[in-house]
Amino acid sequence: MSDLFSSYNLSGLSLENRVVMAPMTRARAVDTVPDSDTALYYAQRAGAGLIVTEGTPISDEGRGYLYTPGVYSAEQVAGWKKVTDAVHARGGKLFSQIWHVGRVSHTSVQKDGIAPVAPVAEIAKNSNVFGLDDGGTPGLVSPSAPRALNTEEIARITKEFADAADNAVKAGFDGVEIHGANGYLIEQFINAGFNTREDAYGGATIAGRIRFALEVVDAVVARIGASRVGIRLTPFSRLFDLHAFEGEEATWLELARELSKRNLAYIHIGNAGGLLTTEEGHKFLTAFRKAYQGTLIYAGGYTQETAQRVLDEGLTDLVAFGKPYIANPDLAERMRNGWPLAASDHTTFYGGAQKGYTDYPAYEAAV
Ligand SMILES: Cc1cc2nc3c(=O)[nH]c(=O)nc-3n(C[C@H](O)[C@H](O)[C@H](O)COP(=O)(O)O)c2cc1C
Repeated sequence: MSDLFSSYNLSGLSLENRVVMAPMTRARAVDTVPDSDTALYYAQRAGAGLIVTEGTPISDEGRGYLYTPGVYSAEQVAGWKKVTDAVHARGGKLFSQIWHVGRVSHTSVQKDGIAPVAPVAEIAKNSNVFGLDDGGTPGLVSPSAPRALNTEEIARITKEFADAADNAVKAGFDGVEIHGANGYLIEQFINAGFNTREDAYGGATIAGRIRFALEVVDAVVARIGASRVGIRLTPFSRLFDLHAFEGEEATWLELARELSKRNLAYIHIGNAGGLLTTEEGHKFLTAFRKAYQGTLIYAGGYTQETAQRVLDEGLTDLVAFGKPYIANPDLAERMRNGWPLAASDHTTFYGGAQKGYTDYPAYEAAV
């Protein structure tokens, strides 16, 4: 039985406990460079066994939202260095979540207003991103029509993932989490309902669908070493206009088997659409656990009690908490001591300055 508060050896990186801070976009980097507020925000949360940062675009093209801090320029790397120093000074460990949104973007957040890119030139319907409206005011806007990537271009993006990973290590991160989840570029390739390409990355075969994910993993591993590389996946998430498709479970299990051969730091599974909490979902997770031999992190709606339960069941090794970390910078300490949890204000999740970001006190400071 693994206690939520017991230490964990993550590919040689010693974690204080099994509580992970889930990646959360907070959209406060107006010039895309992390600053002293970013450093303070993460340092306040250094009591997590592992912090996974907010999604961090690997290029201008990979950006879908205003004010998300990138990891592709010298200024951004210098900004992140302040963050990693501050977290390490408090004994924390942190991975950078490296991100390409694919079609989940808007011309107003793309350089020179160009179209976003995707496996297929089909717009994400019934979706929103954070961009500029027609009048130039920041707010929620519908994703723009993407253009389809040609085959030769895909290697360029793979390299940008590897460059971003390199930058993250230079900035002092303990590793990177490849964002393969939540309906963004990597999942757009995996989803056969959307990926109707006819080249080697095409949707007709499992090998084609998972090729891009594996090439990104392999390129990043070649650059920074497998023990520093995790990947986030959200099977059955249905986000950003991706839908059920035939052979879905087989696709995820094949990806699990392939990733299992690569000795990564971890796979992080997000229960984005809630489907993994059903009986079917439980069966799937059991099969996934069997197919993947390495460390697993689960996220999505966990409380201390349910987190301990999945650890007891042996289904996962670590559990990530998202929203609870917004209002409880000392979440792990609060749970361990049975201290009450504060509620987070969803109106300050994205954008703005310190309010709702760095001004939630630790429990002891509040008494
Ligand atoms: C404000 C906010 C921003 C998020 N941004 C990201 C992100 O950048 N990358 C990602 O993979 N998931 C993101 N998520 C999803 C969380 O990592 C997590 O999976 C989700 O909130 C469910 O966990 P929870 O119930 O503990 O909050 C975000 C969630 C929230 C609430």
